[in-house]
Amino acid sequence: MALFSLKHALFFMFLIFTTVHASDDPIFLRQNCTTNETFTSNTTFQLNLRTLLSSLSSLATRNTQFRNATVSGGSPSDTVYGLFLCRGDVPPQLCQQCVLNATQRLGNQNTDTCKFAKSAIIWYDECLVRYSNRNFFSTVETRPRMRLRNTANISDTKSFLRLLYTTLNETADEAANSSNVDKLYATKQANISGFQTLYCLTQCTPDLSPQDCRRCLSDVIGDLSWCCPGSQGGRVLYPSCNFRYELYPFYRMDSPAPEANVSPTASTIKKGEAGKRVVSSEIATATFVSIGVTWLWWVFVLK
Ligand SMILES: *[C@@H]1O[C@H](CO)[C@@H](O)[C@H](O)[C@H]1NC(C)=O
Ligand SMILES: *[C@@H]1O[C@H](CO)[C@@H](O)[C@H](O)[C@H]1NC(C)=O
Ligand SMILES: *[C@@H]1O[C@H](CO)[C@@H](O)[C@H](O)[C@H]1NC(C)=O
Ligand SMILES: *[C@@H]1O[C@H](CO)[C@@H](O)[C@H](O)[C@H]1NC(C)=O
Ligand SMILES: *[C@@H]1O[C@H](CO)[C@@H](O)[C@H](O)[C@H]1NC(C)=O
Ligand SMILES: *[C@@H]1O[C@H](CO)[C@@H](O)[C@H](O)[C@H]1NC(C)=O
Ligand SMILES: *[C@@H]1O[C@H](CO)[C@@H](O)[C@H](O)[C@H]1NC(C)=O
Ligand SMILES: *[C@@H]1O[C@H](CO)[C@@H](O)[C@H](O)[C@H]1NC(C)=O
Ligand SMILES: *[C@@H]1O[C@H](CO)[C@@H](O)[C@H](O)[C@H]1NC(C)=O
Repeated sequence: MALFSLKHALFFMFLIFTTVHASDDPIFLRQNCTTNETFTSNTTFQLNLRTLLSSLSSLATRNTQFRNATVSGGSPSDTVYGLFLCRGDVPPQLCQQCVLNATQRLGNQNTDTCKFAKSAIIWYDECLVRYSNRNFFSTVETRPRMRLRNTANISDTKSFLRLLYTTLNETADEAANSSNVDKLYATKQANISGFQTLYCLTQCTPDLSPQDCRRCLSDVIGDLSWCCPGSQGGRVLYPSCNFRYELYPFYRMDSPAPEANVSPTASTIKKGEAGKRVVSSEIATATFVSIGVTWLWWVFVLK
């Protein structure tokens, strides 16, 4: 009996730990870089890139979810273009932290995959940051792309897919037609049954026109059949736009809302479920390692 309640107490503490952990740290997804165009050390391009990354991270402190920046100097080919975009519901402080983490990763040219790349993009749950030697502002960019699939399957695939496409299309219309042109973002819920709800999110970088945003979202939604048919959740991310859907609320409802509004227990359980189900190697490993370490630690303390 004593052991039973102790287990529950530990589980509860574990849940609290994961909530705090999850809400404090931006969750890294993936980084992609050009491998055919690189720069060398101690060049003007490298200097411009450093300036760009630090200016993006300081722009992110100004309570804004999107900014673009250009740094020139030296010859025209040394110009670097960059931007950051935070997910529409992410509060300012988390946005800032995400962009900071992303720019530091991008600036760290020691990683094997992205050594001295002239273009790169980095995706987190909460934000994306990209830079390039090409001016990519106000153009629809659909490569590189990434997808993530929730491993839990849906039972009634056919009617679910109909509802999913309809809801995603409505969410895309709303994001593209947003009255706030600085934020092409929308979320929508739909009832699947009496006790199941579908949650959808779409977003474009706000440098796109409404038409370009809708076109990008049509393309990205078109990848649904490649990403996650039959899955309870999934997402496809392009540089210019993305969508995500799940059967649990993965975004903050009143955007941007302070984290304190979310009930700790409810959000933890959802986050736990999310972590367990995601396929992506990086996230899944990170979550499992984090859960594993926490459990081991508690078991160790117990003994
Ligand atoms: C992007 O990065 C992933 C690994 O993180 C790699 O598997 C993939 O090939 C890369 N894609 C492109 C277009 O660079
Ligand atoms: C590098 O590859 C990208 C696409 O993969 C292409 O658009 C670009 O022209 C290439 N650059 C060079 C210098 O080959
Ligand atoms: C770059 O400059 C630093 C210090 O000025 C020097 O130590 C380093 O060797 C230089 N690297 C190259 C590749 O020239
Ligand atoms: C931001 O992008 C727009 C085009 O969408 C461009 O006109 C503007 O100069 C850019 N601003 C900076 C600071 O790069
Ligand atoms: C970015 O976040 C990860 C984990 O969330 C952390 O391990 C890493 O130290 C952070 N990097 C920076 C530069 O803040
Ligand atoms: C979900 O479906 C896919 C293919 O339809 C299958 O490979 C996978 O094992 C299923 N996952 C679960 C958890 O049943
Ligand atoms: C969603 O929109 C796409 C085009 O953007 C269209 O082909 C598709 O039929 C629409 N689906 C639904 C269910 O409305
Ligand atoms: C969005 O705007 C376009 C025209 O800009 C219009 O055709 C479409 O019906 C609008 N959609 C919604 C959902 O308001
Ligand atoms: C979903 O169903 C609940 C009651 O079951 C209702 O209050 C709510 O408005 C419905 N939501 C949508 C988006 O239809």
